Parts: sequence; C-alpha cells; structure tokens
Amino acid sequence: MASIAFNNVTKRFGDTIAVNNLSFEIADSEFFCLFGPPLSGKTTILKLILGLEKPDDGEILIDGRPVNHVSPARRNVAMVFQNLALFPHMSAEQNVRFPLAERRMDESHIASRVADVAAKLHIGHILHKSPAQLSGGERQRVAIARALVRDPVAYLMDDPISALDARLREETRVELKRIQNELGRTMVYVTHDQEEAMSVADRIAVLEAGSIRQIGAPSEIYDNPHSSYVARMLGAPAMNLLELDKGRASALEGALPLSGLAVPDGAAQIGIRPEDLLVGPALAAGQGLVRVYEVEPLGGVTVVTLQAGETSLRAMVRGQPKIDPDSQVSLSVAAGQACFFAGDGQAVRI
Ligand SMILES: Nc1ncnc2c1ncn2[C@@H]1O[C@H](COP(=O)(O)OP(=O)(O)OP(=O)(O)O)[C@@H](O)[C@H]1O
Ligand SMILES: [Mg+2]
Repeated sequence: MASIAFNNVTKRFGDTIAVNNLSFEIADSEFFCLFGPPLSGKTTILKLILGLEKPDDGEILIDGRPVNHVSPARRNVAMVFQNLALFPHMSAEQNVRFPLAERRMDESHIASRVADVAAKLHIGHILHKSPAQLSGGERQRVAIARALVRDPVAYLMDDPISALDARLREETRVELKRIQNELGRTMVYVTHDQEEAMSVADRIAVLEAGSIRQIGAPSEIYDNPHSSYVARMLGAPAMNLLELDKGRASALEGALPLSGLAVPDGAAQIGIRPEDLLVGPALAAGQGLVRVYEVEPLGGVTVVTLQAGETSLRAMVRGQPKIDPDSQVSLSVAAGQACFFAGDGQAVRI
C-alpha cells in the first residue's frame, strides 16, 4: 500500500513539455483518475510513477520515499499499458501467471491467484487461447488480469478498457472498482472518457497540456468547476456556454430570461448544464422563443438541441416529452444552477 506524490515535477521531450511543474498527492488506497484529452500528459505521468521515464525537475515520492533514483523493478508498481503488450507466443493463462512465475512463487499459490483473478474478470473460459485468438476486449481483460495477479503497492492503468464495447466497458469498470476496493491498493487510472472517470474515481485530476486544471471528487468537479475548460470536460452533453452582454445572453435575444439569476460582476459567460436548461411550451405572449433543431429520445432522457442564430444549445429532459423539431419553445434555468466564468475562463463566484 502506498501514497504517491509529485513535487514540482517537469518532464520534457525536446521542446515538448509533457508534464509541467506538477504537484499533487494520491492517498493510499485511493482510486485516482487522470482525465484529459489526447497528448495532455496522462501516459507520461504513469511512466514517471513506474520509473520508465525520469523527471527533468522535481521529486516523485512513493509512500513518502523519494524514488527518482529507484529502478522500476524496485518500485513494485504494476502497470497495464495503453497498447497492451501481451506476450504473443504465450497463452492467456501463461501471460497472466507470468509475473508470479518470474518471481518463482509456489505453484499452488500461482494457480489459485490466477483462478481468482480470472474469475473476477470473467476470462476463465479463454485462458487456453493465444493472444492472436482473442478479441481486443478479451486481450484488454487479460492484460488487466496480468497486473492484478501481482501484489504491488499500486496499480497504474492506462485507459485499460477503451477497446471494450459499451456494455462490457460498464461491467468491467464496476469490477475494477470492486477489485480495487477489495484489494485496498492505490490505483492511478487514465481515461479519456468522462463518464468512466466520474463513475470509478474517488478523485479526478483534469489535465490540459501537462498541467492539472482541477483535482477533486467527481461531484465536486461537476458541481463546482473552477474554469470553463473543466466545466466542458465533464458531463455529456457538455455544459452550454453562452456569452453575456450586460447580464443578458445576447445570442439568444432575450429568449433565455436571466432576470431571476444573480449574475456576478465580471461574468463574461454563463454555463448551464443540459439537465438545468428547462424547456417549456411557447405560452406567454411576448416571451422570447427558441427553435428546436433536433430531438433525440434516449429512453430515460431526451436530448433536445436548440438553435438560435449561430448558437446551439442542448437541453436534457426527463422521459420522452412530446417536442417536435422546428417547433418553438421557451427556456429557463433551474434555480441556482448556473455557473459564471470571466473572460479568461476562470469561474466567477456570486
Ligand atoms: N517518448 C516520447 N518522445 C517524444 N515526445 C513524447 C514522448 N512521450 C510523450 N511525448 C509527448 O508528450 C506529450 C504528452 O504525451 P502523453 O503520451 O503523456 O499524452 P497522453 O495524455 O497519454 O495522450 P493519449 O491520450 O493520446 O494517450 C505529447 O505531446 C507527446 O507527443
Ligand atoms: Mg497516453
């Protein structure tokens, strides 16, 4: 078991700053998600923890001990790589048992560990196959099993379930969360999928270009984003952002009444989550209206895309209300649910 800390860590590749003066701490037994767009430095952070890359500046600590000069093998951290390097000439079972066999563990112990992990990841029936005979999703689960079978101080997983289809992804992320909980090991988990980050993480670090923009519990980041960048990263459909002009959402020409909202000084944008943008019938005379562009019934919720001039907005409505494309609707904001951002994108508090 181990905590992991970065103190002012920078990693460059030539002119590229992959990790930019990062400081953060991951608690022992925490499920910590690194979440960010492509090339934001997620894999580099994992490789720095594992010891495959060395920082140019700063210090990395595992369990309070500086590890900058400790070899990967002696850090005892297990990693599932993004490109899933399974040994092609070995069966799935041989792949999974490899880390234990390499440490010359007792055969009966190996067999029971492998069986246990295989059962948890539902791969018992494919253990005899070679990697070439497995689907992408099966290979991914075998690679995860090979990391879980060990008893490291922390697991690092680099987008480990991105190749699974949606159903299996949901199942596997629940299993991973349960397994991590049972094992009580620190998990550093990379994903580019906001729903996955929200669902598995104790805390999420939202990355942009090698910097952490915000760290916090999923609900904290979702409810209280510190910037419009973070606000747009979490939640699907993404938060609606509208330019404000003298306290009005100018692009909507009065169709979104903000009179009930306290618009703070310095706010240049209002952010409204789709579930907080309320769509109503076109009743009141003189009320500004917005055109419905498209309607997507998703079963439990319906996503309504609205168009006002150049501005597109998305609302999420519960159930399957009768709303027709090209009809006119009225809009309002759920009480107390708007965010405000300054011209530089930073949140402005009321
Ligand atoms: N070995 C390397 N040599 C040169 N540049 C590298 C190397 N590894 C990473 N980089 C650069 O560092 C930056 C961060 O890359 P990294 O792979 O950490 O991003 P990532 O967030 O994992 O991206 P992805 O979501 O695409 O996997 C990128 O600009 C990348 O091109
Ligand atoms: Mg990567």
